[in-house]
Formats: sequence, structure tokens, C-alpha cells
Amino acid sequence: MSTLVVVGVQWGDEGKGKVVDLLAREADVIVRFQGGNNAGHTLVVGGKKTIVRLIPSGVLHAGKVCVIGNGVVVDPQVLVEEIDTLQQQGCLLDPAFLKISETAHLIMPYHKAIDLARERLRGEGRIGTTGRGIGPTYEDKMARVGVRFIDLLDEKVFSEKLAHNLQEKNIYLGSILKEQALDYGQIFDGYCRLRERLAQYVIDTSRYLHQEISRGRKVLFEGAQGTMLDVDHGTYPFVTSSNTVSGAVCAGAGVAPQQIHNVIGISKTYTTRVGSGPFPTELFGPEGEKLRHDGGEFGSVTGRPRRCGWFDAVVVRTAARLNGLNSLALTKIDVLSGFPTLRICTGYDYQGRHYDEMPASIQVLEGLTPIYEELPGWSERLTDLRSLDALPANARRYVERIEQLIGVPVKMISVGAGREETILIRPSFF
Ligand code: IMP
Repeated sequence: MSTLVVVGVQWGDEGKGKVVDLLAREADVIVRFQGGNNAGHTLVVGGKKTIVRLIPSGVLHAGKVCVIGNGVVVDPQVLVEEIDTLQQQGCLLDPAFLKISETAHLIMPYHKAIDLARERLRGEGRIGTTGRGIGPTYEDKMARVGVRFIDLLDEKVFSEKLAHNLQEKNIYLGSILKEQALDYGQIFDGYCRLRERLAQYVIDTSRYLHQEISRGRKVLFEGAQGTMLDVDHGTYPFVTSSNTVSGAVCAGAGVAPQQIHNVIGISKTYTTRVGSGPFPTELFGPEGEKLRHDGGEFGSVTGRPRRCGWFDAVVVRTAARLNGLNSLALTKIDVLSGFPTLRICTGYDYQGRHYDEMPASIQVLEGLTPIYEELPGWSERLTDLRSLDALPANARRYVERIEQLIGVPVKMISVGAGREETILIRPSFF
């Protein structure tokens, strides 16, 4: 019996897609358990780039079952487009390899309209959402007016729920947000067409996963976003609307806590974030520009330039505790080549008070002073290296220092975007 959870431990975009794709070789089933198409996982195999937004990143491996769990919010139009693209590449040709939870909630056109309109109205105070309707869909789930796949499958139930919701949403859109009302018939027809495509994949994924785990199959849970975007534990309110920590697997996939065996955290060797919100180690000058340029730090879903900064041990230490990490994968160390000196943030100071974990107050986060230590850099290109010993001494020292500061062993180091551009320190992850 063996399961593995992969989570991002910063603000998302840590390179989870690549790591999941790599770990999927060992797995039988790969599961998404939260978030939606706000995530964008970039996979590079044989020099060819594929971006998946909803389907788990293991999809490029033949013979692996991909599961979209109940905790995911699904835009059915985006999902159909993603299936089409993958099928054109020869993946997912057999429907048995994709399973969608019957209780996953659907992103509806009014959710996207509300998300975009609210962000426009917020002006300077905007969260910088991906505009995919994620927040409004989770709001409706909690308000118990959401539409699930099981509802879509029953035309009468779907029609009633849509009519009821749309009546209220159109008043909100028109009177409060000053947006156009949406048309019932257009949405109904469009979603019924999508149902024809997706119905074949819809099952009780919680029971399916229980059965597979009991049979000894290896199940990999793929987190989206990162711990600092968790709605409870992140830099609230500049967060996403789901729980992104490893514990969310239980609720978001319907598996019991005893069935979670290993948790690996993915962290960049520096820090990035997209959207608004506190970012203590952010760099504004040429060093930040170098990270953005060399790291190709532009959003895979929105194309927005990412904010870049030094590695923040406070962030990752907090995430290590929250997620119960038993190993760490460090990504993009190749991007750090060429800095004469590197800095790591080891703690924060706010008005004389020391923090070694993330403060909850946004005021503290915005007013604090990061405490840095400096380490010597290296100039060598790292992308062709495949063992820890081959790394320049200063790069090894940098990794060892991160390990010490976080207290979790580093099992994998990524030296490039390609599947093969990886240093595997421990051979097995399950
Ligand atoms: P939402 O998830 O679209 O509501 O956006 C809320 C916040 O989370 C914004 O700051 C987004 O930029 C951020 N966010 C959402 N998904 C991702 C992701 O996959 N990577 C990085 N940031 C994300």
C-alpha cells in the first residue's frame, strides 16, 4: 500500500508538473484533488512542450489512470479542449484512463463573469486572480448552490439548478457589478453538449481510489498552486480559494488520513509569485530581472510576468511543517548560475520581534525586514549534470544549507525543464 502527495511549498509555479511527470513513472494512478484550471503545469518531453491545466501531469505516460477528484472545480469547456489536444498527441485515447468525480463542482459562465468583474472593480486592491472563475465556484460550493457533475448528468436537475442560480446571478451581475446578463438557453445548450463528451468519464472516484489503494496500486496525488496560496494557511486574502496543503487530499479526493504515506514538497531554489500580495524577498532591480529572464518566469496560464526574489527559508519551513514533508525536490537550480553571491532569507524582523515562520498579519508581512545570509555563487552551466557530486562545490553548499534550514532531506534537484534534466538523489519516492 503506497501513496505519495506532491505539493508546492511556495506561491505556486514551483515546477510541480515536471516532478509529477517524472514521479508518474512509478505510479499507477495520478490524482488532482483541489484547484482548477488556474493551475498550469508545463511538461517538456523530448524538447516538446505540453501545458496541462486540469488533467493530472502524469497524462503523458501511457497506461496511467488520471483522476480529477471531487475537490477540483472543473470548467467543462476547458477540459474538453484539453482532452482534444491530448488525444491529437496520441494520449488518453482509451476513456478508461481518465476518471472525473461525480461530485466535482462545475465552473459556470457566471462564475467567470463574476471573477473578472470583481477584479476590475477592486482596482488597486485586486487579488490578481487568474480570472478563471475559481473563487466564485468555491463560494457557491460552500453556499450549497454549486452544480456538480452528477447534477449535469440529470438534465432535469441541471436545468432547475441553472435556472435558479442564473436568476440570482443575473441580478448580481447587472445591479452590483454592472455587467451584461447571461442567457439561460445558451448556457444550457452548451453544457448539455459538453455533457455528451464528458459523461463517459464520470464515476465515484473516492470509492475507486479506495479500491486501488487497497489493491496495493501506487497512487500519486498532485497538488496545484502552493502552500502560501492556501485559503487557510497562505497570505490571506492574497490566496486561492482552496486548501492546497497535503491534508486537503483527504477531503478533496475522499481518502482517509491513514492512506497518506509520503509527502514531497516542491520548491524553487529561489522564489516567485504571480498576482498581488506580500512577498518579503522580492527583488526589484537587475537581480530580479535576471531571475525572470533566465528562469522564463512568465505565467503558463495567464502569461503574466512573475515577481522574483531570493529563496525564503521562512516560507518553506512553514510549509514543511504544515504539509508534513518527508522530502523536498528543489527546482531550477540552473537558473542561479552567474550570480557572484546568492542570498537566502533565514528569518524576519518586525519591530524587534523575530519570526522563523510566516506571520499571519498582512501588515507584519508588508512591514517586515528579511534577515539574509550570503552564500558564494557559481558560474558553471548545470543543465547537463546528473549527480550531486558533479555540481560545483558552491551549488552543493547552497543545497545543503537549504536542507539544514528546512530540516527536510532533498531527494531531487532539477537542472532544466526536460524530464531527463534531473539529479535524483534517492531513487524511490513511494
Ligand atoms: P485564483 O486561484 O484564480 O482565484 O487566483 C488567486 C491567486 O492565486 C492569484 O494571486 C493567482 O495569481 C494565484 N494563483 C492561482 N493559481 C496559481 C498557480 O497555479 N500558480 C501560481 N499562482 C496561482
